Amino acid sequence: MDRTAPVDHPIHDLLARRWSPRAFADRGVEPDALRRLFEAARWAPSAFNEQPWRFLVARREQPEAFEALASCLVEGNQAWARRAPVLAITLAARRFARNDRENPHAWHDVGLAVAQLTVQATALGLAVHQMAGIVPERVVEVGAVPDGFEPVTGLAIGYPGDPETLPGKFRAAETAPRVRRPQNETVFGIRFGSQPGW
Ligand SMILES: Cc1cc2nc3c(=O)[nH]c(=O)nc-3n(C[C@H](O)[C@H](O)[C@H](O)COP(=O)(O)O)c2cc1C
Repeated sequence: MDRTAPVDHPIHDLLARRWSPRAFADRGVEPDALRRLFEAARWAPSAFNEQPWRFLVARREQPEAFEALASCLVEGNQAWARRAPVLAITLAARRFARNDRENPHAWHDVGLAVAQLTVQATALGLAVHQMAGIVPERVVEVGAVPDGFEPVTGLAIGYPGDPETLPGKFRAAETAPRVRRPQNETVFGIRFGSQPGW
């Protein structure tokens, strides 16, 4: 299914083709592909190169681990994400290793790492669906997450599948038009709301 973004200005094909499916094909993700995804994340930029991201990951081929990570998602996400072949949870280190001060950009940098991962996934024909809907306390318990780290998001990863396999309420969203706010409501000159100088 082609879900390429209807862009107003040309962008890189990998960015235009990235999207967040809820339907996944009944096909596992090769360990080598997973290594490539997390390598893309690894090379993301970060404040002071602290690389505050960590990932808990389970493949469907590891039933107990997969079930444990699935139980960290809110019900609304479990309803579709359980069919993804790979689940992950992202974690952020709250403090800089270099001086133990709070890292106010830790979540930002986790997002950057995930952005790189999603683009690499697109290049491999895979898709990633990010989820705010996780149960952080459950993640800490399941993952024995040490002090100083906090759960940020869940990721469902796999090859995109047939929307018809989805529970009804998710089916329409899977094929609905892709929308974004226009640039002129987002990109300003130096005064908020003003037009940029081009
Ligand atoms: C940080 C973050 C949290 C999200 N949380 C959820 C979620 O809990 N459940 C869900 O179904 N989708 C979630 N999404 C997916 C967004 O709804 C989706 O990215 C957005 O609608 C744009 O669609 P696209 O990624 O296909 O372009 C989340 C995305 C991000 C980046």
